[in-house]
Amino acid sequence: MAILITGAAGFIGYSFCEKLAKINLKTKVICIDNINNYYSIKIKKARLKKIKNFSNFKFFKIDLNNIIKLKKLFSKYKFTEVYNFAAQAGVRYSETNPSAYTKSNIEGFINLITLSKENNIKKFFYASSSSVYGDNKNYPLKENEILFPKNFYGMTKKLNEDFAKMYYENYKFKSVGLRFFTVFGEWGRPDMFMIKYLNAVYNSKKFYLNNYGKHVRDFTYIEDVTDILLKLRNKKIVKNDIYNICSNNPVGLIKIINYFQRISPKIKVKKRGFQKSDVYKTHGCNKKLVTITKRKKFTNVFLALKKTHDWFFKYRNLYR
Ligand SMILES: NC(=O)c1ccc[n+]([C@@H]2O[C@H](COP(=O)([O-])OP(=O)(O)OC[C@H]3O[C@@H](n4cnc5c(N)ncnc54)[C@H](O)[C@@H]3O)[C@@H](O)[C@H]2O)c1
Repeated sequence: MAILITGAAGFIGYSFCEKLAKINLKTKVICIDNINNYYSIKIKKARLKKIKNFSNFKFFKIDLNNIIKLKKLFSKYKFTEVYNFAAQAGVRYSETNPSAYTKSNIEGFINLITLSKENNIKKFFYASSSSVYGDNKNYPLKENEILFPKNFYGMTKKLNEDFAKMYYENYKFKSVGLRFFTVFGEWGRPDMFMIKYLNAVYNSKKFYLNNYGKHVRDFTYIEDVTDILLKLRNKKIVKNDIYNICSNNPVGLIKIINYFQRISPKIKVKKRGFQKSDVYKTHGCNKKLVTITKRKKFTNVFLALKKTHDWFFKYRNLYR
């Protein structure tokens, strides 16, 4: 018996591993990642170094597109649970590099879900995204909205959900899609707003504030996310299901910058216009999630920002 976690060198995958290690899980955890260079490998290696110290955890550098290695892994470890966090992330990068998304998010995803179906995996979780909603303004967005992704990245995530639905309808293969809304916190991604800002403050990187700071995001703290994942893990999966993983608390980017400016040295913010693949606002409804997990409280965003800031300051060299 073992658990498979893909994208384990990434932000959410690593953080979930850390959470599982904290609860002293007795089950073996097999982690894989292709360690791509979408952002600094230094950060991914630092996360992997920590994973190697967790007991029961094992890491293999494997790409979701390597079906032979994946098959061997499934037959050796007899997985009972699969968590797919591996994907080409990022909205803007998908404008110029669509094939990276088709390879990992579509072909890679199909390899994994097909092997999971063939191996009768009872708990299959996969990362989707708030990007599937596109510019839908029916806030707070519920899971049953009609989806209109407005960028290539969001489209690949919608396709993941469509494939998962088809696998349930045709083969009764059950799964849970996790629509993450702007996850932030310790070990965060350097291509995302908050870490980008802190990187500018402490590592003299350039910081561009898109859409003159008018964007609003349903920011979701990583500690809440990994807690929620643990709770979902303990539930029986009975169908093809989808959950918004969000705090239901949209905050304007300017408010966040104002807060960071109070607790860190001030920097020059270069404001620029709207980027066409972006959405103006994200705001998800988390009623369905709260009902199943019975977890009503989310970490106060400013408390989470302070923790993220203090963590970043300690690890700032990793992001140079
Ligand atoms: N962080 C967020 O706010 C957010 C929001 C919505 C959705 N998501 C989704 O959640 C998942 C995790 O996101 P993250 O923020 O941790 O991103 P991340 O980029 O930090 O992690 C993804 C990891 O997957 C690996 N990977 C990519 N393609 C692979 C492949 N073909 N084979 C094996 N490994 C591969 C990468 O090397 C990376 O380490 C992704 O699917 C992402 O699209 C994240």
